[in-house]
Amino acid sequence: MIVPVVVLVVVVWRDWISALIIAGTLPLIPLFMALIGAATRDRMDRQVRTLQRLAGHFLDVVAGLPTLKVFGRAKAQAAAVREISERYRVTALATLRVTFLSSLILELVATVSVALVAVTIGLRLMSGSLDLRTALFVLVLAPEAYLPLRQLGANYHASAEGMAAAEQAFAVLEKPLQSHGTRGDVPDPAVAGITVDRLRVAYPDRDRPVLDGVSLTVEPGEVLAVTGSSGCGKSTLLAVLLGLVEAEAGSVRVGGVDFADLDLAAWRTRLAWVPQRPYMFAASVAENIRLGCPDASGDQVRQAITAAGLADVVQRLPQGLDTILGDRGAGLSAGEQQRIALARAFLRDAPLLLLDEPTANLDGQTEREVLDAVRRLSHGRTVVLVAHRPALLALADRVVELADVGVAAW
Ligand SMILES: Nc1ncnc2c1ncn2[C@@H]1O[C@H](COP(=O)(O)OP(=O)(O)OP(=O)(O)O)[C@@H](O)[C@H]1O
Ligand SMILES: [Mg+2]
Repeated sequence: MIVPVVVLVVVVWRDWISALIIAGTLPLIPLFMALIGAATRDRMDRQVRTLQRLAGHFLDVVAGLPTLKVFGRAKAQAAAVREISERYRVTALATLRVTFLSSLILELVATVSVALVAVTIGLRLMSGSLDLRTALFVLVLAPEAYLPLRQLGANYHASAEGMAAAEQAFAVLEKPLQSHGTRGDVPDPAVAGITVDRLRVAYPDRDRPVLDGVSLTVEPGEVLAVTGSSGCGKSTLLAVLLGLVEAEAGSVRVGGVDFADLDLAAWRTRLAWVPQRPYMFAASVAENIRLGCPDASGDQVRQAITAAGLADVVQRLPQGLDTILGDRGAGLSAGEQQRIALARAFLRDAPLLLLDEPTANLDGQTEREVLDAVRRLSHGRTVVLVAHRPALLALADRVVELADVGVAAW
């Protein structure tokens, strides 16, 4: 912004005619830039989105290759991969074409403008109305006035792609957060009961609510088992208690305080959760267990491991606790991953434990060990346990059939 203005001022002082030409042609570059921008904006947006979608699709196909191979569909997917690659090539080259064409136009405008200055100087030199010194001075300086704008033009398309990507990021950032309260003094679930009253939960793309009119209470310090047929909404109920899914109607109260008024982050410090499909991170076993409790001592981690029936497993691992897991827990069996999730929850030492089928992948003996640990842990804590298996139900102080406590959707 400064250089073109300074050059213009200096040139005005030596040769006002050239200055006039420069001043007249300089705005052409931003003008063309705006015109090109307006013409290609939609196209750039579309291309950035297409490239992203193709990248995601490609990842999906590759991640699913073992399944496809077993079901004999790998060859068919080769065609899909070929097609994706082809579309990627076409889209990428279309983006490049726009970029090159628009840089060409901007460069052309700058070059023609400098040529205009040079030609008029040449003509005036020949007619003798301009001395050589001034002519050379202006000729050397003139391109400098255009240089910053040319650079701007060259980077313009990178910025257009950046804008398209930034807009998507902002669309996510600007989406209003789930409206939740700010009450930080969360009641302690170990001493305060949870009352669910005529809860209705619906997922946006489903026409029927999953839970409707569900009412139940969780007494402080009890182990409550929730059962029900597959797909009846047990995990959804836990998701509501976790603050991951918002209720459409009805209320959840914790020790008399409306759940909607609670500060979610403060509430979540009070609970530990073993999801139905636990997520493992590509980090060491110890780090995976320390997830909810990064400062836990080695002793505490070992205790959690024993409680979760994981001690033998850790011993068998090549580097013990420091063994690095693959993505999504590759290298561990489903039951081992589940026990890591249990150890995670045990280590967390939270007053409210939410367990979603915690022993689904375990054999009878390991299940009994884990159940003993859950029983020991449930002292002074509240546990909500989603369960099918009789061994788990036996652990509960009270069993609630979801279909009995509400108008279940099915
Ligand atoms: N994110 C979602 N979007 C749309 N529908 C969903 C979503 N999650 C779950 N559902 C639907 O909601 C219903 C209840 O799901 P939920 O996971 O709560 O069942 P569940 O009782 O835990 O079943 P299971 O015993 O098999 O774990 C199911 O019919 C499911 O298809
Ligand atoms: Mg479930």
